[in-house]
Amino acid sequence: MEVLGIDIGGSGMKGGIVDIKTGEMITERFRIPTPESGSPKKMGKVVTQIVDHFKWNGPIGCGFPTSMKNGVCLSASNLSDKWVGINVENYFSELVGQPITVINDADAAGLAEMHFGAGKNRTGFVLVITLGTGIGSGAFYNGQLIQNTEIGQMYYKKYENVEHYAANSVRKSKDMSFEKWGKRLNNFFEYAELIFSPDLFIIGGGGSKYWQEIKEQIDIRTEIVPAEGRNQAGIIGAAMAGRRHKFM
Ligand code: BGC
Repeated sequence: MEVLGIDIGGSGMKGGIVDIKTGEMITERFRIPTPESGSPKKMGKVVTQIVDHFKWNGPIGCGFPTSMKNGVCLSASNLSDKWVGINVENYFSELVGQPITVINDADAAGLAEMHFGAGKNRTGFVLVITLGTGIGSGAFYNGQLIQNTEIGQMYYKKYENVEHYAANSVRKSKDMSFEKWGKRLNNFFEYAELIFSPDLFIIGGGGSKYWQEIKEQIDIRTEIVPAEGRNQAGIIGAAMAGRRHKFM
């Protein structure tokens, strides 16, 4: 079955048609930068452009970079505050004239990794951590998603939250070496390990492509592996959410 997956991040909005039975993308990825204002109006327009680009008429799933409850945005995180309280599902569905299922972006990436990637057949408590503009988390217990964990929002020392300390966007804006960023990530993973004691961490999101450069710095007791879907997992998982009853 084919579903259009849309992965909305703090810096890019990406779409692709996915065969959700195999977890493969059957089109090229189409990407438009996230409008700087992060406003509902501008981002809604981009969602329409993505749907139009694929001339899509069918099920659509979308990952959205904020905590979400039943389609409603609960906190704006790296987007405009105007999002808070908006039913994003209804808003996007009305704009494109087709029903769209919306879940948190890291939950979406996690769904793809657990079904088709590094988390396949893994039981126990798995945390999928996405490193991008922010730090996202998808939590799974025996393969079942526990929605809307926000590990990146935990306080860390003098920082407002740990994503302001260790996200990939912080590395970029501070022009940090991989060694320094890797050390920060190690502190982050030690902290998350202390609080949650997971059985496995899977690292995804744009920052996971630097796994080779940072892995020397990561020294924790929990097993930790890079996502297999890397950057595509967000689109694939979003598409899976478009068929929510089957996977969640
Ligand atoms: C948001 C999360 C999101 C993560 C990755 C964080 O700022 O609070 O909801 O999953 O960024 O986009």
